[in-house]
Amino acid sequence: MAQKRKLQDKYFKMAKREGYLARSAYKLLEINKRRKLIRKGDRVLDLGCAPGSWLQVAEKIIGEEGTLVGIDLKPVSGDFGPNVRTIVGDFTKTSAAELLGGEDELFDVVISDMAPSTTGHGDHFFSERLCQEIIDVLPDLLKPRGTCTMKVLEGETFPDLMRRMKHIFRIAGAIKPDACRDVSRETYVYGIGFRPGRVRVSDGPGDGALPEPAPGWDD
Ligand SMILES: C[S@@+](CC[C@H](N)C(=O)[O-])C[C@H]1O[C@@H](n2cnc3c(N)ncnc32)[C@H](O)[C@@H]1O
Repeated sequence: MAQKRKLQDKYFKMAKREGYLARSAYKLLEINKRRKLIRKGDRVLDLGCAPGSWLQVAEKIIGEEGTLVGIDLKPVSGDFGPNVRTIVGDFTKTSAAELLGGEDELFDVVISDMAPSTTGHGDHFFSERLCQEIIDVLPDLLKPRGTCTMKVLEGETFPDLMRRMKHIFRIAGAIKPDACRDVSRETYVYGIGFRPGRVRVSDGPGDGALPEPAPGWDD
């Protein structure tokens, strides 16, 4: 009973009431309220988009002039407008060309709520690896000066991820939205002002551009 109460918390109830497909909607709403990563008219890529609550949030923000592409291993549950395209598939095995859908224009924003299936052993490591894989392909997906946010489970490799984010974005930080459950180690790293040239060249420490991680990444 206590477990059910915990799972059906205020965000779960709000999501039901406000017609969101999942309580995760409130995480993106808070991140975007604080950092304005997604704006009207943007072209957005949503990685791990099912059941679809981030798509719902992003669709509202971008409006009719924006476009939205989502990919997930599972199909989404909701109905979306004509400017929203979803793909059922594994992001790590999908080409940038397929995500771009034949368009030359890259995305203004990449958002990821993906989490590898949890095993209880080294989950944070796999989660951080997934973020690093996303970063590796960002130059093929994200416009210069674009923005990004990705879910990660905090663990000992978190400072490495933050260091890389600070290197490839003009501004980077981490936010733990209120809707993340208290016990969860999940947090969202974000970057503003993408610098694609820094992803593959001198990406490691040594060029003097990478700051040491400091406590309290949430700036
Ligand atoms: C927490 S859910 C996302 C919830 C979504 N943001 C929403 O608001 O409805 C994480 C999703 O990531 C997807 N996922 C995990 N690994 C993936 C991968 N390699 N490629 C595509 N989707 C993946 C899972 O299938 C799952 O639906």
